[in-house]
Amino acid sequence: MELGLRRLHPLLAVEAFGVDLRRPPEPSLCAAIHDAMNQHAVVVLRDQHIDDEQEMAFARALGPLEPMPAQVGMDKQRLKHREMVDISNLEVDGSVLPAHDRRRLFNLGNMLWHTDSSFKATPAKYSMLHARSIPPEGGETEFADMRAAWDALPAKMQQCIEDMVCDHSLLYSRALLGFDAFTEEERALFAPVPQRLVRKHAASGRRSLYLASHIGAIHGLPRPEALMLIRDLTEHATQREFVYRHTWRVHDLVIWDNRCTMHRGRAYDDLRYKRDMRRMTLEDVAPTLMQPA
Ligand code: OGA
Ligand code: MN
Repeated sequence: MELGLRRLHPLLAVEAFGVDLRRPPEPSLCAAIHDAMNQHAVVVLRDQHIDDEQEMAFARALGPLEPMPAQVGMDKQRLKHREMVDISNLEVDGSVLPAHDRRRLFNLGNMLWHTDSSFKATPAKYSMLHARSIPPEGGETEFADMRAAWDALPAKMQQCIEDMVCDHSLLYSRALLGFDAFTEEERALFAPVPQRLVRKHAASGRRSLYLASHIGAIHGLPRPEALMLIRDLTEHATQREFVYRHTWRVHDLVIWDNRCTMHRGRAYDDLRYKRDMRRMTLEDVAPTLMQPA
């Protein structure tokens, strides 16, 4: 199947045409999506009038799902399926979460540059986010191209960092915002995991920076030096020229490759407007240290 593609940015992100996910996804459609993802890292499908089951069927058709997505407040689930991550500002009854709700404060961490589930031993491959309702302004999502960021680094810096290993944890990213209200159980669940700082994309062969606000240490470096280096690299990697900003329409489905992009949500008036987004996440093949450098 040939997908019609339109570039949304010079480096990454395309809109794909002629897809209707209300129908069960054919293998030829999945192959075409993988091709587009391998090259462009972000694929936007507009006007997908799908429900939870259809979104899940599409995710499953693309590859194995992440076994258990990480969220706080797992006892209060708005969505029916555990595999689906609730990226909304909504209470179980559909009202907006109040200002001091723990889930709201935890979810603010999505506005830090990150890649999904790098804090898990085997991290995420693709994520897909479907817009069910959106605020009248704000709430965009930005994607930064970590392949372009790697390519643009001076050779000396590339050599210096190419074998580095970082520790990632949700505890680290939330600490950046002063959020530390974790239970003992969550602390154990979110214990740091090691990941390579520089990856090679399995399908395209391109190298990329594997950065995230979840990073809290680099093996073998004093912590302040490590965190300064991560801050510098993040600043470099999120320059405007590497970033595609997605302005949502209702029924958009956006798929991104977590292996070679970072993303972040942008602010909106979440105490006033509802933003209902639902995410499915595919699992990578192995921990990054067990993948070829
Ligand atoms: C996510 C995420 C940002 C947003 O779904 O993983 O980080 O804009 N979303 O909602
Ligand atoms: Mn995310």
